[in-house]
Amino acid sequence: MAVGGNSAYADVGVLPPLVDSAVELAASLGFDHSCAPEQGQLLSVLARGWRGGRIGETGTGCGVGLAWMVEASDPTTSFVSIELDEERASAAAELFSDHARVRVEHGDWRELVEHGPFDLLVLDGGGKGKDPSVDSPLDPAAGWLAVGGTVVLDDFTPADSPGAAEHDAARRHWLDHPLLHATEIRLSPTLATIVAVRIR
Ligand SMILES: C[S@@+](CC[C@H](N)C(=O)[O-])C[C@H]1O[C@@H](n2cnc3c(N)ncnc32)[C@H](O)[C@@H]1O
Repeated sequence: MAVGGNSAYADVGVLPPLVDSAVELAASLGFDHSCAPEQGQLLSVLARGWRGGRIGETGTGCGVGLAWMVEASDPTTSFVSIELDEERASAAAELFSDHARVRVEHGDWRELVEHGPFDLLVLDGGGKGKDPSVDSPLDPAAGWLAVGGTVVLDDFTPADSPGAAEHDAARRHWLDHPLLHATEIRLSPTLATIVAVRIR
């Protein structure tokens, strides 16, 4: 199980202000599934590479990952994130209300495609196909991801660690995808992320 949520932020020192506020919001709503600090730091690096770009996210949660990206970007970068849970969507929209370039919507992840194609697409609440009973992997070419764009899939168990086999089908789907150059990045002993670039 990946270590994320509020407890993972307890020992992280000084956080960017919006990230701090999002972590506080998550704690106040009793939401303990925010992205891990390691993932947030990776997202901030990736978002920095897309200044002026369009960034999308499925599964806003309380906006922790989104906050890492917004803090790393500049005013020319726009964001749309979508969250199924009404309370979290509304609270996260309020958190980013001073940032006109950030839009948080309440809805199902599939609706996010209306705002694509994205330069950076973060799949954290649908579209990964990790659990076939919940969703199936999205097609990057169906309006989701621009050619040259990057897709990020959080919350895998590192391939060589116990329990990894559970998500091997989704892992292989993305790592072997014919439209993508993909790699798995180990962020901690229990957490890995797949990062892929659309090549055609
Ligand atoms: C792992 S949490 C997201 C964490 C967040 N991205 C962050 O960085 O802190 C997954 C979120 O996806 C949301 N979710 C689940 N199913 C969804 C769906 N069908 N459409 C949109 N969001 C969904 C959940 O309500 C939950 O808030």
